[in-house]
Amino acid sequence: MRRHRSSKIAGLGRYVPRRVVTNAELERLVDTTDEWITVRTGIKERRVAAPEEATSDMAVEAAQEALEQAGVDPAELDLVLVGTASPDMIFPATACLVQERLGAKRAGAADVSAACSSFVYGLALAHAQVVAGLAERVLVVGADTLSRITNWKDRSTCVLFGDSAGAAVVVPSDGQRGILSFWLGADGGGGPLLTLPAGGSRLPASYETVERGQHYIHMNGREVFKFASRIIPRAIEEVCERAGVSVAEVDLFVPHQANVRIIQSAAERLGQPMEKFYVNVQRYGNTSSASVPVALYEAVAEGRVRDGDLVALVAFGGGLTWASCLLRWG
Ligand code: UT7
Repeated sequence: MRRHRSSKIAGLGRYVPRRVVTNAELERLVDTTDEWITVRTGIKERRVAAPEEATSDMAVEAAQEALEQAGVDPAELDLVLVGTASPDMIFPATACLVQERLGAKRAGAADVSAACSSFVYGLALAHAQVVAGLAERVLVVGADTLSRITNWKDRSTCVLFGDSAGAAVVVPSDGQRGILSFWLGADGGGGPLLTLPAGGSRLPASYETVERGQHYIHMNGREVFKFASRIIPRAIEEVCERAGVSVAEVDLFVPHQANVRIIQSAAERLGQPMEKFYVNVQRYGNTSSASVPVALYEAVAEGRVRDGDLVALVAFGGGLTWASCLLRWG
């Protein structure tokens, strides 16, 4: 059989902060109930970073575990990509902070900004670099500290999010195992549905922007919900078609963990059982860029992914953006 150069995930890592914030704790903060949060989202608790912890700190922890699992020395990395919507600062890129802390002296470094889809976008960029022969070892991290950009007085958003980081080391493969297909998409027209308005060149930070809470996440939850329910099944079908396999052949779906009802609706639309969808939103809430790599890490650690299994990753988020990936594990 003719073999072609592809890429595969050689190691995974994840970091979740210690501090657990339960729904009961949020009941004391805003006008909400454990029942509302559980029924509407499936979330029971989430992790919140310690005051001294920022996105790069969590990213480094996850990256170190992924590098160890892959048996790759940081000095051998060609590229460090960090997907995030909550970088340590606007610049330098969080990827540069991570590169320095890891000692990845030979690596280029840049952030990927596609909101919650950032990790899967980063994976696609890493794959392309490896397949083109431009890189041999790429570190892709998804890390977010949304607790820092969440309005803790806004019950429509503060119950949803959590902090964490996930990482993958991408290396060449012979095409038998590894990444089979991607689909990256965007609909900029839906941008206003999910934004952090201030702090950029359009609306520089000022006393007024802070007073108006424009340095926090603003979201039209109902519209994002509709978009997500529509795009997840579509994105899964597309990567399957691109790889020439049927949706029913996929062994495990690893979707962005935003709301269990979104995942249930995708399962229904695809005619696939919920047992084939990995879900950990009850423990972590929506951790943005970290959600897919953390879910994949846990699925593998729990033995839900075996050598040769077909795994579909799918993410969606602000932008609006979406990204899906089909891979054969091993
Ligand atoms: O990573 C991508 C980003 N985000 C997402 O994927 C989020 C997608 N959206 C969602 O998950 C859901 O739309 C939410 C969980 C955000 C909201 O669920 P929903 O079923 O769409 O509720 P809703 O926004 O239609 O609100 C229903 C009611 C409203 O009250 P009224 O107007 O019916 O009286 C809200 O004010 O629930 C109220 N509400 C709450 N009540 C208790 C909103 N947030 C809360 C809350 N506790 N935390």
